[in-house]
Amino acid sequence: MLSQKDLQSSLPVHGLGEPLYYYPSVGSTNDRAAELAEGGAPHGTLVVAEEQTRGRGRAGRSWFSPQGSALAFSLLLGPDGFNPAYSNVLGVLGALSVVEAVETRGGQALIKWPNDVLLDGLKVAGVLAEAGWVGGRLSHAILGIGVNVLQASAPDDRLLDFPATSLEISLGKKVDRQRLLLDILEGVGKWLPGLGSDELRRAWRDRLAFLGERVSVSNPDVAVVGTYSGIDSDGRIVLLDRDGEELRLSAGDLHLRVVDRN
Ligand code: BTN
Repeated sequence: MLSQKDLQSSLPVHGLGEPLYYYPSVGSTNDRAAELAEGGAPHGTLVVAEEQTRGRGRAGRSWFSPQGSALAFSLLLGPDGFNPAYSNVLGVLGALSVVEAVETRGGQALIKWPNDVLLDGLKVAGVLAEAGWVGGRLSHAILGIGVNVLQASAPDDRLLDFPATSLEISLGKKVDRQRLLLDILEGVGKWLPGLGSDELRRAWRDRLAFLGERVSVSNPDVAVVGTYSGIDSDGRIVLLDRDGEELRLSAGDLHLRVVDRN
């Protein structure tokens, strides 16, 4: 079990994690953070759950976070100390912070655009960044991160858009969830002032999965195929079509997959 007392004594990290709301079980930490934001909770508020019963993923999918084996948390950023206009690239910062925490533990994680974290080519973490509105105005953002730590948190492939793994299986060793959470917060705090910077984009680009491959970016209504050339400053994916023309797409509910792989 995560211990609220131990966590509390290690927080805040770079101003993140105070106040701390810890729940043995909650619907979704992102939803709880949104409620807290409406009630005037400050920048840096952290919601951590031992279990989520209605965890949410991108594009309306659900996210599996069973008791005691996953890491599931949400950070409230803004209204002071964070410009919610940056919400579109916030997810990347979350993914990069997870990747770096995995690297510290000896793993080579990569980012599947926009912000899935892959280890051994399998999904180990997901990020859900949402802009929040209070009184009809864009006021804050919520950065929700879910990591499969023990194998019990890696769901059956049939439930997923992409096959999953867990940190402990891929790294072949025990992972302390509290230490992992603190390391990810350290990364978020480190990158937050540089959101939109070239340094962040370079660090992101260096960890992109499938770069240079032919990929399809699609939702149920659209599918665009091209060679994956990178990402731009707004977090859009840049593809080159057969004539070498650039196509730029914002994440929204889009899903990336590799095509023509031998
Ligand atoms: C995805 O890969 O589709 C994103 C998954 C994001 C899951 C996290 S777990 C903590 C936070 N609360 C939620 O309901 N979702 C995010």
